[in-house]
Amino acid sequence: MSFTEKIYRDEDVSMDILNGQTIAIIGYGSQGKAQANNLRDSNVKVIIGAGPKWRYPDWENAEKDGFEVMSIADAVKQADIVHILLQDPAQPAAYYESIHEHLREGQTLSFAHGFAILYGTIQPPENVDVILFVPNGPGPVVRQKYLEGSGIYGAVSVDQDYSGKAKEKALAIAKGVGSTRVGTVYLSFQKETEGDNFEEQVLYGGTIHLMRAIYEIMSENGYPKSFAYAKAIRSIRSIIDDIDEVGIEEYLTKRASRTCEFAVRTSGPRVINYDEIKKIFEETERGEFAKNWLVEFNHGMPVLNRLRRTWKDSDMEEVGKEWRAKFGMS
Ligand SMILES: NC(=O)c1ccc[n+]([C@@H]2O[C@H](COP(=O)([O-])OP(=O)(O)OC[C@H]3O[C@@H](n4cnc5c(N)ncnc54)[C@H](OP(=O)(O)O)[C@@H]3O)[C@@H](O)[C@H]2O)c1
Repeated sequence: MSFTEKIYRDEDVSMDILNGQTIAIIGYGSQGKAQANNLRDSNVKVIIGAGPKWRYPDWENAEKDGFEVMSIADAVKQADIVHILLQDPAQPAAYYESIHEHLREGQTLSFAHGFAILYGTIQPPENVDVILFVPNGPGPVVRQKYLEGSGIYGAVSVDQDYSGKAKEKALAIAKGVGSTRVGTVYLSFQKETEGDNFEEQVLYGGTIHLMRAIYEIMSENGYPKSFAYAKAIRSIRSIIDDIDEVGIEEYLTKRASRTCEFAVRTSGPRVINYDEIKKIFEETERGEFAKNWLVEFNHGMPVLNRLRRTWKDSDMEEVGKEWRAKFGMS
């Protein structure tokens, strides 16, 4: 068995298409900072478009890192490629306030997530390219890996190919950020967006709630809090690194204890509600997750703000602070 999809690596991709081009990175947050710095180090001309200084820290942060920073509208006017790296639900307002009217024929609109295009909250004119490049990891890791001479597996996509060279541009950006050093795949905007939203709900959501459940049940039943916290959080680090390195079966049969292997194979499936996971997949495909998130964002995030407050003050977070102070990364 092998991959049927093409995996693009450095030797498959030329960055010549970016010669003489200016990329405006819009937003200097997690992805913006990492991708801007990597592209600059790969000899691409990068400018930063940021929201007002009094409201967003991006302007000052990007200036500190030596970038030319300007308003989003000015950056769009100067750019050939406009790479929008604002948080997803904030993108439509910023797009229609500062980007849409300044777009010129032949420019490229680029994203790191297909959300705004798939769900139509941004509807670009027909005479621009619309592309996507996303590294499969958070910004600081994207930067760290690049500096180490490596990269993060990534994905590119094209939604609109006005120039006939949209895919070449997306791959060139992937190379500039370092993702083709490892491997980059092509997929549709729809698959990128729904796959990402599915993974975040099930893998991140499920794992984090498992950690909390383990901590709460153990500490409620008399275990020392530091021990419960170690079991809930620290244990996962070693298993993930091992599985990433050698695969699940090798980990279970060669690295885990026999008791652990028995526990995983027999009790593990009882923890997973497969029907519920499938339901979340279907809801995501029907656009329900996107709709709920947009409604939440447009109402000022009442549910998120409430949950943040409850969780921030939880016993597990307090114990976590003490844990990190006492044991750090050891
Ligand atoms: N973070 C990840 O791990 C990751 C991974 C893959 C793909 N992506 C994608 O990358 C894109 C950017 O995400 P991100 O996580 O890098 O976002 P982020 O860290 O939240 O950065 C966005 C930056 O833009 C600022 N901003 C927000 N609204 C703005 C507005 N209306 N005008 C001007 N500036 C504004 C934010 O300031 P405030 O914080 O003050 O609002 C923040 O500094 C998204 O499409 C996301 O899906 C992210």
